[in-house]
Amino acid sequence: MADAPFVSVSGLDIDLEVPGGRLHAVRDSSFDIALGETLCIVGESGSGKSMTALGLMGLLPSNAHRSARRLRVGNHDLLSLNRREMADLMGREMAMIFQEPMTSLNPCYTVGNQMSEMLIRHLRMGRRPALTLARDWLDRVGIPPTAGRLDQYPHQLSGGLRQRVMIAMMLMCSPKLIIADEPTTALDVTIQAQILHLLAGLQRELGITMIFITHDLGVVSRIADRVAVMYAGQIVEMGRTREILRDPQHPYTRGLLECVPAPGKTRPGAHLGTIPGTVPSLVGQLSGCGFAGRCPHAAVGCRGEIPALTVRADGRQVRCLFTPDALWSAA
Ligand SMILES: Nc1ncnc2c1ncn2[C@@H]1O[C@H](COP(=O)(O)OP(=O)(O)OP(=O)(O)O)[C@@H](O)[C@H]1O
Ligand SMILES: [Mg+2]
Repeated sequence: MADAPFVSVSGLDIDLEVPGGRLHAVRDSSFDIALGETLCIVGESGSGKSMTALGLMGLLPSNAHRSARRLRVGNHDLLSLNRREMADLMGREMAMIFQEPMTSLNPCYTVGNQMSEMLIRHLRMGRRPALTLARDWLDRVGIPPTAGRLDQYPHQLSGGLRQRVMIAMMLMCSPKLIIADEPTTALDVTIQAQILHLLAGLQRELGITMIFITHDLGVVSRIADRVAVMYAGQIVEMGRTREILRDPQHPYTRGLLECVPAPGKTRPGAHLGTIPGTVPSLVGQLSGCGFAGRCPHAAVGCRGEIPALTVRADGRQVRCLFTPDALWSAA
């Protein structure tokens, strides 16, 4: 029998109370992740990527309602944990790295103070060994101990250094799951590549399970074992990275891939694709496929029926009434 997945999410719904009614940020989302695996969640702005992450971590805003059939991480049933038990798991078992490290770093305390406090609280370490471990971790993420960084305040560090501090802080309590929500988006391209390399290296070395949120398909190809593509709050396609990038089966995934240059395929100066139209309103219920209004292949049936996420022969999950043969050959 195959090992149970390390993360198992089934039927996750996240609604937000907004002035116009109830906004369905995440609809019936289900995915499993094996221990040590990296799942990338991709999709355009507003598709529900961050809400999925925050819902899993129990960090949703106060206007949000979360429900799910199953929400498990390791041996923990997250649906049955109270706020205090959840806070206890955070940092120790699961940790989150945000796009902007200042979201998590306190501007009033030095880096050393914040890192050692984390170790004192979660691992019950004494102050001196905590500072030593913090220094070791800074070294591990490429910040030499000689630079006196432990005595600096977050604002004295560059964006790249702050993200390195954040990664050290999140990994030093040995979490088994990390969720990184666009951790490199705010950085310039060369620093982005360095941080990605660092994070992916540590994740592999430590055998951590990772959910990596991005809208950059280049990043996906470099670090993901599997990809979940989100559109308007729903997972529309999920499968192994190589297969999805080489042979997308959902028209939205195909549209996304046509928007980015393909190394070795896109000629210099060639026009890249765009996906015309806009995302449907997330307030209220969908009456058909959420992508139908923008899909070049949409048929009458697509507007009257919400397609289920179904498993295809190669294990790929796709939320579309049609198979690629029916779609691309007719195009
Ligand atoms: N606090 C909030 N109150 C009301 N609606 C919200 C709130 N936060 C997010 N939303 C809405 O929920 C939907 C999903 O948002 P989410 O932040 O998950 O998108 P995302 O895929 O992470 O986008 P991005 O790529 O821009 O980060 C969006 O329509 C967004 O406007
Ligand atoms: Mg987001």
